Amino acid sequence: MTHSKALRHPTTWPASESSGRASPLPRRLRDALASAGIRRPRFTRGARTERPFDAPVLRTARLVLRPHRMSDADAWFELQSDPEVSRFLPWPRRDRRLSARHLHDRTGHTRLWQTNDFLALAIEKDGRLIGDVSLHLRAVGPADRSVEIGWVLDPSEAGNGYATEAARAMLEFAFGVVKARGVTAVTDRRNIPSVALAKRLGFVEVQAPHAGATPADAVFLLARGAHEAAVALEGESLHRAAPDRGTRHR
Ligand SMILES: CC(C)(COP(=O)(O)OP(=O)(O)OC[C@H]1O[C@@H](n2cnc3c(N)ncnc32)[C@H](O)[C@@H]1OP(=O)(O)O)[C@@H](O)C(=O)NCCC(=O)NCCS
Repeated sequence: MTHSKALRHPTTWPASESSGRASPLPRRLRDALASAGIRRPRFTRGARTERPFDAPVLRTARLVLRPHRMSDADAWFELQSDPEVSRFLPWPRRDRRLSARHLHDRTGHTRLWQTNDFLALAIEKDGRLIGDVSLHLRAVGPADRSVEIGWVLDPSEAGNGYATEAARAMLEFAFGVVKARGVTAVTDRRNIPSVALAKRLGFVEVQAPHAGATPADAVFLLARGAHEAAVALEGESLHRAAPDRGTRHR
C-alpha cells in the first residue's frame, strides 16, 4: 500500500507521516524491502511506543487470525503466485524457495514498537491459511498514533465477507490495544475490491501528505471516533433487530 498527497477534504489528521524519523525512501520501496526482511537498524528508527505490541491471536465468528508459521508454506505459495492477488501489491513473482523466504520473514513480523514496524497475521479458516491482514506502525506518538492496514485474501475465498471480518478484528486490535488514533488504508484506485472493502469498513477517502505517493493511489482514513461511533451504532441496530439474541458477528 502506498499513499497520495493533495488534501481533498480539509483534515488536520494525519498531520505528518510520523513522529519518528521520516525515511528518505519511497514508501513502496521501503515496504518492499521491509517485507523482504531488509530494514534500517532499530537504533536509527526513532521513537517508540510506550511499550511493544505483540502479535495477538484473534478469533472471529468464522476465522482465526494468528502469527504466520512455516507450515503454511504451500498455501502461501499458492496465494502469492495468483496474479489476481499480486496485481496491486509490490510483490515480485516468487518461486517456492523465495515464497518460503518471504513467509519466513513474515513469521518474524510480530511486533509494533517503532516507526514502520510491521505486524502480519495469517487469516485461517477451518485450519487453512486463506489470507493475511497486517499493520504498519506509521506514527508512534500517543496524540497522532497511526497504523496502516493491509489485506490479502485467496481469490477462491472472495465474496464471503472474510476480508471484512478479518479487517474488523484487526481494527479492534489497532484501536483497542495499540491505541491508534487513526488507521489508514492505501490502495490503487483501480483495485475495486480493495476500495470497496475500505468503504465497507467505514473508511473515508482523504488527501493527505504521504511519502511515496503515486497518482494512482487513494488514501483512506478511519479515525478512532468514527470507528467507535460506527461500532456503537451497529450494536444498537443489532439489539433493535434481535433484542433477545444479543450481538452477533456480521
Ligand atoms: C481486497 C480483497 C481482500 C477484498 O476481498 P473481498 O472478498 O472482496 O472482501 P470480503 O472477503 O470482505 O468479501 C466482500 C464481498 O462478500 C460479500 N459478503 C458476503 N457475506 C458478507 C459478510 N458477512 N460481510 C461482509 N461482506 C459479505 C460482500 O457483499 C462483498 O461482495 P461483493 O464483492 O459482491 O460486493 C481481495 O480482493 C484481495 O485480496 N485482493 C488482492 C490483494 C490486494 O490487492 N490487497 C490490497 C492491497 S492495497
